[in-house]
Amino acid sequence: MLEIELLGVKMKNPTMLAAGVMGSTAASLNWVSCSGAGAVVTKSFSKMPNKGYKNPTTVEVTGGIINAIGLSSPGVETFKKELESINEEVPKIASIYGASPEEFSQVAGEIEQIVDLIELNISCPHAMSGCGAAIGQDPQLTFDVVEAVKKSVSVPILVKLTPNVTDLPEIALNAQKAGCDGLTLINSLGPGMKIDLETGRPILSNRFGGMSGPAIKPIAIRCVFETYAVADVPLIGVGGISNYHDVVEFLYAGASAVQIGTAIMNHGPEIFAQICQGLEKFMEEHGFQSVNEMVGLAHQF
Ligand SMILES: Cc1cc2nc3c(=O)[nH]c(=O)nc-3n(C[C@H](O)[C@H](O)[C@H](O)COP(=O)(O)O)c2cc1C
Repeated sequence: MLEIELLGVKMKNPTMLAAGVMGSTAASLNWVSCSGAGAVVTKSFSKMPNKGYKNPTTVEVTGGIINAIGLSSPGVETFKKELESINEEVPKIASIYGASPEEFSQVAGEIEQIVDLIELNISCPHAMSGCGAAIGQDPQLTFDVVEAVKKSVSVPILVKLTPNVTDLPEIALNAQKAGCDGLTLINSLGPGMKIDLETGRPILSNRFGGMSGPAIKPIAIRCVFETYAVADVPLIGVGGISNYHDVVEFLYAGASAVQIGTAIMNHGPEIFAQICQGLEKFMEEHGFQSVNEMVGLAHQF
């Protein structure tokens, strides 16, 4: 009942790990896969190694967390070994980033044979300069990156969008015009910050970071809803999901599948099995035979 097919990839359910949480090693990705996720997404990695920011890189706030990891990455050569050790049974999605269309294409070319899909992270709100984070705020740069990657690889491409723009449909349509196969939305919101009351110091070493967790869910739902109304490619919804009610809401808004990140920090990877159990029960109670029947239902009103 929960099975879906996303861009030719069969998934046992519509839940995936979100990029950046438990996605740095094959061991942790396999753990998530054994816990019931329908697919796994790696932490974003780049062509060359990148240390990222110094600690502290995450801090809890009301309704979620703020993180500024700074896209730490071991580089594609090292990460390839992890990709090769992920369970064969689970669909694997590589999240990649770069500073230019060429860099994105090079990384994609290195790994296209060993993954099912590639997700382009053009949208991290706190990345170090040179990490291409602002690409997703610029319609032309978004087009250029997606077009370059599509020209160099044949594996389907998802583009992960940022909510930190004034005209999200414009960016989404540019990614689509450049040939992307699906859109993932949203990356973390912000940047935001938190200050220590005793010392007066900003807590994160980078001072600012991206907000995630339940507080951003209404914004993520709006982003999916708004994009579904204009886009013709499947959407993957992410942002603040911590139970099956949240998943239903994303499906109704127009997502064909969902990703879960911050909630794993509070509930462990077991959350995938719990959510799938709840979703199946909800579908039975509401007369849905398949996940597809639920996608975009909120648009009839
Ligand atoms: C600690 C942490 C690290 C993250 N790293 C990445 C990353 O490497 N690449 C990326 O595209 N998104 C990254 N994200 C964003 C998540 O994939 C997701 O889009 C966002 O957190 C919203 O979902 P959530 O509320 O379920 O966490 C990260 C989020 C967190 C909390």
